[in-house]
Amino acid sequence: MTVFGTRPEAIKMAPIILKMKEEKENFAPITVLTGQHKEMLDQVMDIFHIVPDYNLHVMKEEQTLSSITTSVINKLDNIINKTNPDVILVHGDTTTTFAASVSAFYHKIPLGHVEAGLRTWDKYSPYPEEMNRQMTDTLSDIYFAPTELSRSNLLKQNFNDNRIYITGNTAIDALKQTVDQNYHHDVLDDIDNNHRIILLTMHRRENQGEPMYRAFTAIKEEVIKHPDIEVVYPVHLSPVVQKMAHEVFDGCSRIHLVDPLDVVDFHNMSARSYFIMTDSGGVQEEAPSLGKPVLVLREHTERPEGVKAGTLKLIGTSSTKIKESMEQLLDDEDIYKKMSHAKNPYGDGKASDRILKALDTFINEESGVESNGN
Ligand code: UD1
Ligand code: UDP
Repeated sequence: MTVFGTRPEAIKMAPIILKMKEEKENFAPITVLTGQHKEMLDQVMDIFHIVPDYNLHVMKEEQTLSSITTSVINKLDNIINKTNPDVILVHGDTTTTFAASVSAFYHKIPLGHVEAGLRTWDKYSPYPEEMNRQMTDTLSDIYFAPTELSRSNLLKQNFNDNRIYITGNTAIDALKQTVDQNYHHDVLDDIDNNHRIILLTMHRRENQGEPMYRAFTAIKEEVIKHPDIEVVYPVHLSPVVQKMAHEVFDGCSRIHLVDPLDVVDFHNMSARSYFIMTDSGGVQEEAPSLGKPVLVLREHTERPEGVKAGTLKLIGTSSTKIKESMEQLLDDEDIYKKMSHAKNPYGDGKASDRILKALDTFINEESGVESNGN
């Protein structure tokens, strides 16, 4: 049983579900959406043509962490009782991830964690994701770590090395299917062909309020200063983010606020951009593959592989740092070139194959059957 509820979990679980559906002799997947997201989740399900078996529909406007957690745990009870899965798979670090992990534990169902072992080791950054993933790893029985570094983080906490598999990140599996050289989107009709596009996303809870206001204002000032740049910002549907984005950016003709893009559009818009500014986790994983420099609007990252590869630069939300970093990329070709080499630290796009193989072995061992290794 896969349980997930937000856009990034869906994007990175989809390749696994599709693979399970191909391997009918070994797997009978049950897909459960918590519905922590709604429109942004449906977009992904539609693109990958996955029809869920259950949807808990927990989303409420301006929902709280407690409301998501309690609704998911309460509503999963019946479904787990009814279906009694061999394993529950969760992904990443959202509140859905944590709540589904607790449910698996309450029902004594083995838990597998996709994208295990990411750490900043800072309880409140990102908040609540760092503790969501630490608590999920504590409850897990099998770990799918995207990189050697994430494995070493798990070993620091004495998790069982025999149950840790380095798989790469399923984001790369998804990316392989989406990028198209001949891509076009309507928003590009409004942008001068000679202008450089900056793709922006920002949504994290710890950035909402003053940091987000500071960042948006600094970006707007740079756009006014550089007549040859345009910003495309697919705004997250969170009402808090929507309000701030419109408050600061409305009226700027070279800043395009658009609805969240579907994943095919987003990957292609990333590939079409000059550089990316974001506080997203998933975007930090995808950009190194595309050779796009990323200015990360966060103080810490659990994805240091991309910083090491030279593609990501952590700049936080100070106005001075944002303006200085944007100007470096816009005005200094050497710095731009250094950051724009495509070096992908997240695997070869076959993470789902490795996850399924490990799962097959795990399920057979748990049930006392010898694995056929396929
Ligand atoms: C959640 C995750 C975060 C992840 C992000 C991905 C938690 C606590 N946070 O944050 O780790 O990075 O998803 O995008 O798990 N909304 C809609 N429609 C949608 C989605 C959201 O209207 O399709 C609105 C709702 O009013 C909702 C609000 O956005 O209450 C916030 O959604 P929520 O899932 O609580 O937080 P995110 O910031 O999306
Ligand atoms: N993404 C998308 N449409 C958008 C913005 C992002 O499909 O308008 C994709 C992006 O390619 C990445 C994922 O969403 O795969 C990242 O999700 P998000 O930033 O919401 O969450 P995070 O990764 O920070 O948890």
